[in-house]
Amino acid sequence: TRTAPRRISVIGTGYLGATHAACMAELGFDVLGLDVDQAKIDALSSGRLPFYEPGLEEILSRNLADGRLRFTTSYDEVAEFADVHFVCVGTPQRADSNAADLTYLDAAIDALGPRLTRPAVVIGKSTVPVGTAACAAARLQTLAPAGRDVELGWSPEFLREGFGVEDTLRPDRIVIGTDSPRVEEAMREVSAAQIEQKIPFLVTDLQTAELVKVAANAFLATKISFINAMAEVSEAAGADVMQLAKALSYDDRIGGKFLGPGLGFGGGCLPKDIRAFMARADELGVEPALSFLREVDAINQRRRARTIDIARTLIGGGFAGRTVGVLGASFKPNSDDIRDSPALDVASTIASLGATVTVYDPEALDNARRVHPELKYAHTMVEAVRDAEVVLLLTDWAEFRDADPDELAKVVAERRIVDGRNALDPAHWRARGWIYRALGRP
Ligand code: UGA
Repeated sequence: TRTAPRRISVIGTGYLGATHAACMAELGFDVLGLDVDQAKIDALSSGRLPFYEPGLEEILSRNLADGRLRFTTSYDEVAEFADVHFVCVGTPQRADSNAADLTYLDAAIDALGPRLTRPAVVIGKSTVPVGTAACAAARLQTLAPAGRDVELGWSPEFLREGFGVEDTLRPDRIVIGTDSPRVEEAMREVSAAQIEQKIPFLVTDLQTAELVKVAANAFLATKISFINAMAEVSEAAGADVMQLAKALSYDDRIGGKFLGPGLGFGGGCLPKDIRAFMARADELGVEPALSFLREVDAINQRRRARTIDIARTLIGGGFAGRTVGVLGASFKPNSDDIRDSPALDVASTIASLGATVTVYDPEALDNARRVHPELKYAHTMVEAVRDAEVVLLLTDWAEFRDADPDELAKVVAERRIVDGRNALDPAHWRARGWIYRALGRP
């Protein structure tokens, strides 16, 4: 029932932008994606994703072939092509503090603004400190020849890596922060398919929209650290945190999602977002309101140390000269992302203590090899654990959940396993002669 497909641009084609661009084309829009990284644009233009995301490469190739999707490095082209621009650039943690680095966002606004000679709508999707969007809106109007006819709204993105396509096409909700009817109208138009599916569409002010995103990630991080704190207590008290979590999950008010105890959270979002959120609260003069997030972070870090302690105890002493097999390198399954990966943090610490550590991961080996040359890498699970005196399962890939204890027993030096993700059935592994240890369980 939609009218002629509308042209949109997507500025920044990293994880978020590439997914957004391909999915908008899939929904029938004419999409031009921009990145300043020529190599990224070359890869995307030839249908190759610079990262792993199930299902996305097919959508990319199909829409490239159908001519609905193109990529460029030219801001002139983008400004000429579209009147609705999505800004999806990265906002990583600053090197010198916990705050968010807004360099890429500022650069995008500064490059796009002076080229906007017609009325345009700019919609930010990046995760930003509350207050950023209002500044960006003012700056755009100052820079743009079209002046006040260039309006900016903020629509945070909630997609999870590994579920990027599904989360973009069928998000839990769409939030648009704006007080401009024109921005709201443009957002309704690009969200028509989701609105038709009765997906909640919320209009807020700019600040609230920015906050929704960081509040959601802070809540998720808190939920994970809560159950991991319960795991710490369970370890001391001889209780079983898996049974505890299951019993809690039947309370609808609590729910079972993100209540999985283990090595804790990593990745390019949760850890940096809670730190940037604390830094922003400090600037706003409400530092105590978020001081609990410091604990959330600390609990999360302690899980890594605890995993190493359990492994040390299992092999009966120091790691020097020992052989360790590690299953998992990505920060979570179905991803090749190793940013702040708990698995690689643990593996690399053990290597620094003198062990020979061999890592296997279904997707993240190339990324891991680049950043962690001190580790050894294997191309199969069995090769990674060959001669190992202890095996550590650190990322909960389905392949590891389905591992056959008898198969691995044939090649290890000792049948000892630390299940850092509570992914295995302890009774099954123990019955096959393994010494099995996990976080938060007897
Ligand atoms: C997270 C949010 O879930 C998304 O909604 C958000 O859009 C995204 O950040 C973002 O800000 O861009 P993502 O980083 O892809 O998504 O990863 P999650 O699926 O949230 O997992 C985060 C970490 O928590 C992983 O290391 C995972 O292993 C860990 N986790 C998750 C647990 O330790 N226990 C659980 O029960 C669940």
